[in-house]
Amino acid sequence: MAIKQWRTFLMPYQQAVEELKIKFKSIRREFKFKNEYSPIEFVTGRVKEVASILEKVKKFNISMDRIEFELEDIAGIRIMCQFVDDIMKVVNIIRKRKDLTILYEKDYITNVKESGYRSYHIIIKYPVNLSIGCKEIISEIQIRTLGMNFWATAEHSLNYKYKQHIPGNLKTKLKQAADTVYKLDELMTQIKDEIRDAQRLFDVKSHIVSNITDALTSLISLGGIKEFTNYQIQLTTLIEIGDINQLNSLLLKIQRDIDKYKKF
Ligand code: GTP
Ligand code: MG
Repeated sequence: MAIKQWRTFLMPYQQAVEELKIKFKSIRREFKFKNEYSPIEFVTGRVKEVASILEKVKKFNISMDRIEFELEDIAGIRIMCQFVDDIMKVVNIIRKRKDLTILYEKDYITNVKESGYRSYHIIIKYPVNLSIGCKEIISEIQIRTLGMNFWATAEHSLNYKYKQHIPGNLKTKLKQAADTVYKLDELMTQIKDEIRDAQRLFDVKSHIVSNITDALTSLISLGGIKEFTNYQIQLTTLIEIGDINQLNSLLLKIQRDIDKYKKF
């Protein structure tokens, strides 16, 4: 294929990558908008270089007219997560999508590769609408933690340099690094529960504080200006150093005062 033909061939792949990147980034934005935790940390994508395509074609003896069916990673998407259990959340989001078809999945998290490689792969068919009509593009989505990505990127560079023949001592170090990343992912999962608890506590506190503010507005509209000033000082202190019980009892006191004013 001449360069120009390659460009034409790769154009729908480029489009698929751009569209899929936007779509997965939007999922993150949606979670953030709802003030919810996003299982997607960041998204990258790339179209395979012509040189890499040719290399693979030669290695597996693929005929040129079979490239689009045999090479599943010409359009590649990578989704990075903070924590291991985010990966299945992302997988389930992808499984529910109506704009793509899953061809198959490969779970290298449960079935860690010999190299130490861990990731969840989903091979999809994605329709791209071109001026000449619709074309189904095969694409590979890799879902992994930040740690897994760090390791895979480093290992890939070394494989590239040593042409799959990484020296023994380096290979041992890479294996150790893979084990360390695994342990790091486990540790981070434990911290994740802590973060969630902290987040929940924060939400409950914010909710009570907003109820107190509403109650104070009612109190002042009923004429309880002296009480209002007093409570406002208490609220300021409690927001800084108070716990949920103290905030709740402040809310109760204000509500009792409101009831008293209403009886007059
Ligand atoms: P490929 O011919 O590489 O596509 O292999 P495959 O068709 O058997 O699929 P596999 O799921 O094994 O690999 C697909 C992709 O996953 C690769 O192109 C890499 O991006 C990534 N991958 C798989 N194994 C490794 C590994 O040991 N190290 C790194 N760094 N990446 C890997
Ligand atoms: Mg492959």
